[in-house]
Amino acid sequence: MKSYKELPSDAGSNIIGQVTAQANRVQKRLTSVKHTVAIMSGKGGVGKSSLTANLATALTLKGNAVGVVDADINGPTLAKMMGVRNATLTYTPAGVKPAITTLGTKLISMDLLLAEDDAPVLWNAHTQKDAFTWRSTMEVSALREFIADTEWGTLDYLLLDLPPGTDRLPNVVELIPNLGGVIVVTIPSEVSQLIVKKSVTMTRDILNVPIIGIVENMASYVCQHCGEEEHLFVTEEPLDDVFQKISLGAVPFDPRLARASDNGIAYLDEHPDAPASKALIQIAEKVQAFFEGEDLHALPVGAVS
Ligand SMILES: Nc1ncnc2c1ncn2[C@@H]1O[C@H](COP(=O)(O)OP(=O)(O)OP(=O)(O)O)[C@@H](O)[C@H]1O
Ligand SMILES: [Mg+2]
Repeated sequence: MKSYKELPSDAGSNIIGQVTAQANRVQKRLTSVKHTVAIMSGKGGVGKSSLTANLATALTLKGNAVGVVDADINGPTLAKMMGVRNATLTYTPAGVKPAITTLGTKLISMDLLLAEDDAPVLWNAHTQKDAFTWRSTMEVSALREFIADTEWGTLDYLLLDLPPGTDRLPNVVELIPNLGGVIVVTIPSEVSQLIVKKSVTMTRDILNVPIIGIVENMASYVCQHCGEEEHLFVTEEPLDDVFQKISLGAVPFDPRLARASDNGIAYLDEHPDAPASKALIQIAEKVQAFFEGEDLHALPVGAVS
């Protein structure tokens, strides 16, 4: 099989020209976005999408204009979590109008483009085996279009919810070279923390992107009746010192948060006094403080108000 480097020409498609034009459109679109934040984790199911949805809500409630890109092209969940699955996208000469939640957060997701609930994303190729070879390239193209072709308007924050895997961030950095920062999500299990280390190395040391901090999700369970806090994971080793320093906080497990996500309701709005809501609001305040130039990690945990 020939590699693309051996192909004599692009058969007249001017593929490089097309990609360059689209990359320029991404840059142009991002000129009206103040801060871009990627939410990532090397591991699946740790709460990236939940954190993205709740962080977007918290930042919106604080008066920011917030947009969210569901960058999980194959497993999009944010339209459901943010209660806009039934939104119809409208197309204007300036771009696609994103879905807007009842609180005013904007969202674009592959889920909004799929006709049926059970429809998977199928890339157009001779066989799905061929499509697999090109999946990463096609995912990047879809993401590029999501950012470039959406009429975001002026935003204070654009949050990107990444699919699991440390290998996804380089694609995002290729699209957004001046990415504002990364939030790494983990759960307090040793397996998850091992992968956090890889995420931190990839972000900070290989890609040179600032890490806003680490969020420890589902760290504990707070009894709704007596208020007592129990740890959900018993680990021999707590979060490494280095990681404790860059912690943005720990979000307790709250079944009401999972239910709110399933029902597309803003958890923070419904249960503003719940311990998980308070933790999420404090994380949003730290994100704001980070972009206001504060040295977050010189502050003791909980010092930003
Ligand atoms: N703090 C929490 N309290 C209760 N439930 C939570 C919490 N965080 C996440 N969940 C639930 O855990 C499940 C997984 O969360 P989520 O989909 O956000 O993870 P993810 O990291 O985005 O997963 P994936 O890797 O598949 O994208 C969801 O059902 C969500 O509602
Ligand atoms: Mg997710």
